[in-house]
Amino acid sequence: MLKIVVCVSGGGTNLQAVLDGIDAGIVTNTEVIEVISNNAKAGALKRAEAHGIPGICISPKEFADREAFNQAFTDELCRLKPDLVVLAGFLVKIPEQAVAHFGNRIVNIHPSLIPSFCGVGYYGLKVHEKVLERGVKVTGATVHFVNDGMDEGPIIAQKAVPVQEDDTPEILQRRVMEQAEWILLPKAIDDIANGRIAVVDGKVIKKQ
Ligand code: GAR
Repeated sequence: MLKIVVCVSGGGTNLQAVLDGIDAGIVTNTEVIEVISNNAKAGALKRAEAHGIPGICISPKEFADREAFNQAFTDELCRLKPDLVVLAGFLVKIPEQAVAHFGNRIVNIHPSLIPSFCGVGYYGLKVHEKVLERGVKVTGATVHFVNDGMDEGPIIAQKAVPVQEDDTPEILQRRVMEQAEWILLPKAIDDIANGRIAVVDGKVIKKQ
């Protein structure tokens, strides 16, 4: 059984997709052991509670400096000993010490086709605003392992989504979630839980 901790900042629709996938038997051999948020008011914490999953808030605001937050966040992960950490709309940079401890055991969902529209400043709705500003015709989502860079780790899966002429950022965000994110993230977790993914020379290899 793959024990996962899901880290969230906002509404938690990706968390919900994972929980629904587990309930529906689409994601197998997987148990969510805790949800961590940097935001006590995150709707995702309510979703966790509704599912009987422990949820806690660890916010940088509660600590004297970033290093103290980084240590507390990493300590909590180490205490939980998950097999996988899932960043499902977690808008905080993962501490280096956590990446070092959980190498290739942290995955992130990002709402664009990496390496487009990613990195510092590209998160949540901002990604879709920049996609529309640039006028690209195809966008999508990416699930990838997390390394010390920002959205730079080995790519597990991507799915393209069309941009339409009258899209607003909100409409496009919803389409990317429905057609890509909510499918890719549960599938990646199921693949990892069932040993269908390996990282070789910094690239993800899928076993059949
Ligand atoms: C999702 O679109 C996710 O891909 C994005 O935040 C949103 C969270 O929504 N993550 C990033 O931008 C990470 N760089 P949710 O709370 O409803 O899942």
